[in-house]
Amino acid sequence: MVSRTAAYVAMYRALETLEPKPVIRDPYAIRFLPRELAMAVRASRVAPVRKLLLRYADHRAPGARTSAIARTAAIDELVYQLVFSGLCRQVVLLGAGFDARAHRLPELAGVPVFEVDRRETQASKRAHVPASKVTYVEVDFLRDDAFAKLEAAGWKRDQASLIIWEGVTNYLTEAAVLRVLSEVGRCAAGTRIVFTYIHRGVLDGSHAFVGGEQIRANVAKLGEPWTFGLEPSAVGDFVARAGLVLRRDHGADEYRREWLGKTSPGYAFYRLAVAERTDHDAIHQCDECESSYVAATSRMSALCPECSHILYGYPNCEHAFVDGRCTKCGWNGARSAYIRRLLER
Ligand SMILES: C[S@@+](CC[C@H](N)C(=O)[O-])C[C@H]1O[C@@H](n2cnc3c(N)ncnc32)[C@H](O)[C@@H]1O
Repeated sequence: MVSRTAAYVAMYRALETLEPKPVIRDPYAIRFLPRELAMAVRASRVAPVRKLLLRYADHRAPGARTSAIARTAAIDELVYQLVFSGLCRQVVLLGAGFDARAHRLPELAGVPVFEVDRRETQASKRAHVPASKVTYVEVDFLRDDAFAKLEAAGWKRDQASLIIWEGVTNYLTEAAVLRVLSEVGRCAAGTRIVFTYIHRGVLDGSHAFVGGEQIRANVAKLGEPWTFGLEPSAVGDFVARAGLVLRRDHGADEYRREWLGKTSPGYAFYRLAVAERTDHDAIHQCDECESSYVAATSRMSALCPECSHILYGYPNCEHAFVDGRCTKCGWNGARSAYIRRLLER
């Protein structure tokens, strides 16, 4: 079955691309849509129609669209920081669906990109994108060893990778999620995985979230029910079981505020986390200031904590970094880097 949820995320990206000042641009997204969704997007080229459709989409799935757009922008920024800087030399999209980063992000032009998903969704996607350097790897996370298949396809375990797992873990089991994370824990030091997960409370009812029940019912109706979530306070320990260090973990309200400013509520349970495979004992020399530092203390593998903070906006002390902004110096590295890049295009 071709993933319907992947099509809805692509529709959100196609609609955002029509905005006068889009946060992300994805000219490929419309190509993947089933006829009725593609027609709705085409009609939305007329601004008042778009306004109505967005209102309807936000009513049907409160917060889903804005969460998808903001997290895509946040992950694009990470690609820029880690791949453009050369820290990660290969990119893996796990459960890639209709993610068109390989085609739309210029910094991926010279980098090996591997896309992992089920056969039917990949086949449907491949009919609509240029035959390119993307290596497609057919995997069912519930059954297959994704990383053995990736290695067989040419992915190199001994080179730092950026691994993107956007919008997928909530369809799996704890065992399948842990299996993938454990493989990431066996990758080269400096490998990062950015992944989304849902707050466990939306599944077991222990937390009330705006629109939670409604959205769970919607995805179940599409044949792709949500089956897995985590308690945010337990995520650090969960990734540590896989040999990873949690670097970031934000709820939708935080990353939405960061990228879109004020938005309507909903989807606060949809979280975005970054974990890293570090080399705990290694002493590195900072590429920028040449000081020595313990690798595990820095958010970046080639820069010391201070330089990674000043140059890229990574936090170097938890208490000073709130909602992506340092409360000491006010630096907001992620956003300024992204905006600079958009202006340069
Ligand atoms: C909501 S979509 C997200 C797609 C894409 N990452 C994006 O952000 O546009 C979920 C994706 O996970 C994939 N998926 C779900 N369960 C899977 C499984 N067991 N094995 C492989 N892929 C799976 C689906 O095929 C679909 O492409």
